[in-house]
Amino acid sequence: MGAGIAEVAAKAGVDVVLRSRKQETADAMVAGLEKSLGKQVDKGRLSEEDRDAVLGRVTATSDLSALADCDLVIESVVEDLDVKRALFAELDGIVKADAILATNTSTLPVVEMAVATQRPDKVVGVHFFNPAPMMSLVEIIAPLTASDETVAAVTEFATACGKGPVQVKDRAGFIVNALLFPYLNNAVRMLENGTANRDDIDAAMKGGCNFPMGPLALLDLVGLDTSLAILDALYAEFADPNYSPAPALRRMVAAGHLGRKSGQGFYDYRR
Ligand SMILES: NC(=O)c1ccc[n+]([C@@H]2O[C@H](COP(=O)([O-])OP(=O)(O)OC[C@H]3O[C@@H](n4cnc5c(N)ncnc54)[C@H](O)[C@@H]3O)[C@@H](O)[C@H]2O)c1
Repeated sequence: MGAGIAEVAAKAGVDVVLRSRKQETADAMVAGLEKSLGKQVDKGRLSEEDRDAVLGRVTATSDLSALADCDLVIESVVEDLDVKRALFAELDGIVKADAILATNTSTLPVVEMAVATQRPDKVVGVHFFNPAPMMSLVEIIAPLTASDETVAAVTEFATACGKGPVQVKDRAGFIVNALLFPYLNNAVRMLENGTANRDDIDAAMKGGCNFPMGPLALLDLVGLDTSLAILDALYAEFADPNYSPAPALRRMVAAGHLGRKSGQGFYDYRR
């Protein structure tokens, strides 16, 4: 998600510092961005000049202190509250006093990240959708601690990026994932209990509901580890059985079958 968000912001004319823990990962993300922009040039959707300008706005680094001068930092690391809280505390000591710290979390309580900093009024959720350059929605999550100015500033940023922001309270899953994940989870259960096979489940939801992809293909796109983390967070918050992850999902994650990113999930992407 991080690379996609960087692409969105750089295309909107914003200077972007793309930071990953390893320099080679950050460089690989920029190489991926270059490839993605190259395809857009080939299809005539982007000029070579604009591609060069977008790439010129992105700097790749492994150094967290390279974010010191940023006005807005959007965190998009693994969906793990302890990792995110530790990162927010560290960022708080690095960025300037008036900088906004945002999280791209799919479900986790934004307020928990806010109170890990000395600037809880400047911490907010800015939730992009996958793939970020294609999907028009951004959910703006305002924790109890956020100031109106912070919410207004990130709403303006999302709009400047060409997105349609919606505002939502700090509740697990926000709007989209709270509604979407019972459906995705029940598709795994349906596969598990033998009601239908993978291809028929996906074909049914495409053909019957006009969805662009079936639920099992969508889980592979989201990532099965991220999906499991989302369901665990939803279940922890609401104790609704529809959010209790299907056992098959947990076993697939344990096996390292994470979907597209690992090459194998409900579908095989290795060929
Ligand atoms: N996948 C989606 O469809 C989607 C959509 C919207 C939001 N999100 C959210 O975006 C965030 C990232 O998800 P993703 O799908 O890009 O996951 P991913 O697994 O593709 O990427 C996670 C990144 O976090 C890094 N990371 C792992 N452990 C870390 C640690 N201890 N400290 C710092 N970095 C660490 C990894 O190196 C990797 O670069 C999550 O919060 C997720 O909920 C995901």
